Amino acid sequence: MATPATAIVNIASLVTNDPSLGDRSFLGLIQDAAVVVEGDHVVWVGESSKAPATDNRVDAAGRAVIPGFVDSHSHLVFAGDRTAEFNARMSGQPYEAGGIRTTVAATRAASDEALSANVAHYLREALAQGTTTFETKSGYGLTVEDEARALRIAAEHTDEVTYLGAHIVSPDYADDPAAYVDLVTGEMLDACAPYARWVDVFCEKGAFDGDQARAILTAGRAKGLHPRVHANQLSYGPGVQLAVELDAASADHCTHLTDADVDALASGNTVATLLPGAEFSTRAEWPNARRLLDAGVTVALSTDCNPGSSFTSSVPFCIALAVRDMGMTPDEAVWSATAGGAAALRRTDIGRLAPGTRADLTLLNAPSHVHLAYRPGVPLVSEVWRRGVRVA
Ligand code: NIG
Ligand code: FE
Repeated sequence: MATPATAIVNIASLVTNDPSLGDRSFLGLIQDAAVVVEGDHVVWVGESSKAPATDNRVDAAGRAVIPGFVDSHSHLVFAGDRTAEFNARMSGQPYEAGGIRTTVAATRAASDEALSANVAHYLREALAQGTTTFETKSGYGLTVEDEARALRIAAEHTDEVTYLGAHIVSPDYADDPAAYVDLVTGEMLDACAPYARWVDVFCEKGAFDGDQARAILTAGRAKGLHPRVHANQLSYGPGVQLAVELDAASADHCTHLTDADVDALASGNTVATLLPGAEFSTRAEWPNARRLLDAGVTVALSTDCNPGSSFTSSVPFCIALAVRDMGMTPDEAVWSATAGGAAALRRTDIGRLAPGTRADLTLLNAPSHVHLAYRPGVPLVSEVWRRGVRVA
């Protein structure tokens, strides 16, 4: 073993998400475990008593260790907040896509520095709650300059950047949505593609219909961006089946699904990303995770952190909701927030702890990952390591 290796020993239970390394099926759980980290990656996992000799040793002292959370869906490049809208909603008003316009106005008016500082602020929050990888989007600029600026700022903070010029039709094009789709698939795409890995569209009544969504995703793909879709959040619609047809990495929300939607997800390579913070904060019907899992669909769990529909950066909170209200077991929810998120980003280097993966991991002030759902609202994250370095 090379000298700079560090062994984290005396881990009460270790979630590897590698079934070949441990038991409890997909979780690959190892009791009384150790993880050895060298540089930015894992070089060994196994029983603590068999850990190889290393120069550095960290005593987990009976804490549980899980892979860092992979939050594959957030909207962090924004300014302002929507407290008044939330208050109105909790007094009975429905959530509508149009609330996004409030954040568009605040975001356009903000400086680059303020937007970047805001992203950094929510990232620190998320990191302290165990998130080591996050995706984030544009979508609150809706002009060529503002969308490109949002993506440039997002790219300062993460590699997982998504172009969402098609969040809603820009208020500047209220009378001519077709011209806005032309902009999103033309000049705006040209300006944004260099900063992004993904292209997304909000396929929903009041946002973009199936034909518009297809045009936007296809144009993005032609520029080298890979599709993901905000699909079937507020109502039934074509988003999920379009996502599968275009081999999108993920169909996000998946709250209103027909049997044909579930069948399409089960037969394709598109992950269903569930975002229970949105249903919580809009008092909407929960997505049915059990139905998807029983059909064999790969499910991810993420925060959707944004100032409108889901202003939480906490993956543990989403795990607790998914277990309590969406029919997931604690094992499934933890898998979905780690390996599931990685699948939704088509990544194999994160979301697992096995030789060769990135050393992104979280120590919990608890003997088991189950406590994330069993002890809701309790700050159980005790240490966070990213790329082999303790960062929180
Ligand atoms: O994922 N659904 C569309 N976009 C966000 C909401 C954004 C907002 O309300 O500002 C979402 O929930
Ligand atoms: Fe979203």
